[in-house]
Amino acid sequence: MGTDSPPSSSSTAPVAVGAKNAVRAVAQHHRAVVGFLLGFFLVLLLYTTLSSQFGSQTAIGVLQSSSAVRSGPAARAAAPSLPSSSSTPSNLAQGDYMEEDGGHKNDKPSKMEEEHIQDDAHRIGKNNQSEAKLDVKNGQNAEQTGQQGASDASDRMEEELIRQEIDQGGGNKNDTIIEPATAPRKPICDLSDPRYDICEISGDARTMGANRTVLYVPPVGELGADSQEWSIRDQSRKYLEYINKVTVKSLNASQAAPECTSRHAVPALVFAMNGLTSNPWHDFSDVLIPLFITTRALEGEVQFLVSDLQPWFVDKYRLILRNLSRYDIVDFNRDGGVRCYPHVTVGLRGHRDLGIDPARAPRNYTMLDFRLYIREINGLPPAGVSIPYKEANSNAATAASGAPEQQQQRKPRLMLINRGRTRKFVNFPEIVAAVQKAGFEVIPIEPRRDVSVEEFSRVVDSCDVLMGAHGARLTNFFFLRTNAVMLQVVPWGHMEHPSMVFYGGPAKEMRLKDVEYSIADVESTLYDKYGKDNPVVSDPESIHRHGWQFGMRYYWIEQDIRLNVTRFAPTLQQVLRMLSE
Ligand SMILES: *[C@@H]1O[C@H](CO)[C@@H](O)[C@H](O)[C@H]1NC(C)=O
Ligand SMILES: *[C@@H]1O[C@H](CO)[C@@H](O)[C@H](O)[C@H]1NC(C)=O
Ligand SMILES: *[C@@H]1O[C@H](CO)[C@@H](O)[C@H](O)[C@H]1NC(C)=O
Ligand SMILES: *[C@@H]1O[C@H](CO)[C@@H](O)[C@H](O)[C@H]1NC(C)=O
Ligand SMILES: *[C@@H]1O[C@H](CO)[C@@H](O)[C@H](O)[C@H]1NC(C)=O
Ligand SMILES: *[C@@H]1O[C@H](CO)[C@@H](O)[C@H](O)[C@H]1NC(C)=O
Ligand SMILES: *[C@@H]1O[C@H](CO)[C@@H](O)[C@H](O)[C@H]1NC(C)=O
Repeated sequence: MGTDSPPSSSSTAPVAVGAKNAVRAVAQHHRAVVGFLLGFFLVLLLYTTLSSQFGSQTAIGVLQSSSAVRSGPAARAAAPSLPSSSSTPSNLAQGDYMEEDGGHKNDKPSKMEEEHIQDDAHRIGKNNQSEAKLDVKNGQNAEQTGQQGASDASDRMEEELIRQEIDQGGGNKNDTIIEPATAPRKPICDLSDPRYDICEISGDARTMGANRTVLYVPPVGELGADSQEWSIRDQSRKYLEYINKVTVKSLNASQAAPECTSRHAVPALVFAMNGLTSNPWHDFSDVLIPLFITTRALEGEVQFLVSDLQPWFVDKYRLILRNLSRYDIVDFNRDGGVRCYPHVTVGLRGHRDLGIDPARAPRNYTMLDFRLYIREINGLPPAGVSIPYKEANSNAATAASGAPEQQQQRKPRLMLINRGRTRKFVNFPEIVAAVQKAGFEVIPIEPRRDVSVEEFSRVVDSCDVLMGAHGARLTNFFFLRTNAVMLQVVPWGHMEHPSMVFYGGPAKEMRLKDVEYSIADVESTLYDKYGKDNPVVSDPESIHRHGWQFGMRYYWIEQDIRLNVTRFAPTLQQVLRMLSE
């Protein structure tokens, strides 16, 4: 669809985010970015200042520039076919599907995204009203600016989706009135969760997408004088200003219900695809995992009404979306009709950053369930299959049984991911050589992408270890097999805590083996730049204390990594031991 067309030249131009003056440099490229960034900084400020405990655990966001390179159809067709786990993929996968800086979008301003906003629930719960107000104002400006950039890129896809809808007679048009099976109850919007708001409407629910409104029409006998109204953000982050609100209303006796233009027998879910998506970590943390929590148990029997639909997202995650809902996705903002459903949910439940709380999830789903689900959807081998290294060697042992000579052992395979702009390995070839010398087969992944999710997932599945610096490309860990190792290189600057919260913890929950290597000060390019006595190097704690934006600037944006392969060698040995356990 539309997203496969090559991006316009302006969007492919890499935006030079010089470490020091990121905001200024970006502004020179695109005026609209300024408003976005300012608003964005304020949002970050809101989240981070809500925390009463500053320090090493202080929330940090990261700004990254977007390289915004989307492979065209030609590039995709020309992408090398990826090998099965038994062959040696030496020249493949120059791209990876979950790169850190959201390269799939053509809408550049909103893609000057941060990496993380660590807005864990309790933190947001301590909302400071005065700051929140200030932020709402600026956040909305930013929202508008970002959207302008986003709109024309997505027009084509949206038209395509609408055309599909029309072709199919507006979806599942059925003039039979569906009698609600259970006694209707009042629409209930639950605003109590610190992380998300959600509304559940049962009985006669009518959606008017173009008006961003969902109505509850009570049965005639129950029509009272009172009418209730809510307005919520339909994603898993209730305070994220980029998410536009959806209105949920119950009608009273004096308000006429709009006529249905289509009637549907299945429930519907209204949710937003914009926000911080395009950074893979956020794609999963903010949308896909909450979507899984909210709808997986429905087994496809739900229709998605997507507000602020992102065509690239629909394309990139089509396997997951199609499995969670077997019905056409409706472009909600452009849906001029009145759709009638027996049940509508507005919003997405999310429990925590990149996580699921089994006690609150339907069927007590866990992150392990989620990883296995993602693998299944992508056609990867089922749970229970060993890591490739063990699998290959046990096959070899079987084949060789009786033979006097021991079969040549397959080496464990390590995917080594480099980042594009920030926290990149400056001595990448040296690291590749060191990993090979330690006894691994290496699949180096440079920041460029030509392959589809499905293809890339097969390469990750064929690896025993996924290694990279802290960052969103580690989100590829969903494709690893049980007991494979995620090896995270933690940059300088007290980044152990976020590294564990965003990747290490989830990896363990998903039954991957989690290994962190924290670099020494001399392995950071900050050391060369500022010298060992500068507080940036000698006292990161003091930098964080000055405010989140300083920690972000130095440790997330300005820093690159020159891994000391001698110091790193024991970590590789540790990983080797883990693989043979
Ligand atoms: C809220 O923020 C304002 C302005 O920064 C500050 O003066 C005030 O003390 C804060 N209140 C709380 C409860 O943190
Ligand atoms: C319409 O829905 C009703 C009730 O669910 C069903 O019995 C009927 O077969 C449907 N008709 C069509 C044309 O789908
Ligand atoms: C929906 O919005 C349109 C345009 O803003 C307006 O004309 C129409 O009355 C609205 N419909 C309802 C039912 O509020
Ligand atoms: C129904 O709700 C509307 C809007 O809230 C209000 O203006 C109107 O007075 C209500 N009607 C009755 C009969 O109370
Ligand atoms: C979703 O995937 C599961 C597991 O592969 C499969 O059993 C199910 O039928 C799929 N559902 C839909 C709607 O495609
Ligand atoms: C999930 O687990 C909790 C206890 O941890 C239990 O109370 C709840 O009923 C379970 N839910 C389901 C759907 O099994
Ligand atoms: C690399 O690490 C080794 C072992 O820790 C150390 O002896 C050596 O001095 C380090 N090299 C550099 C350039 O820092």
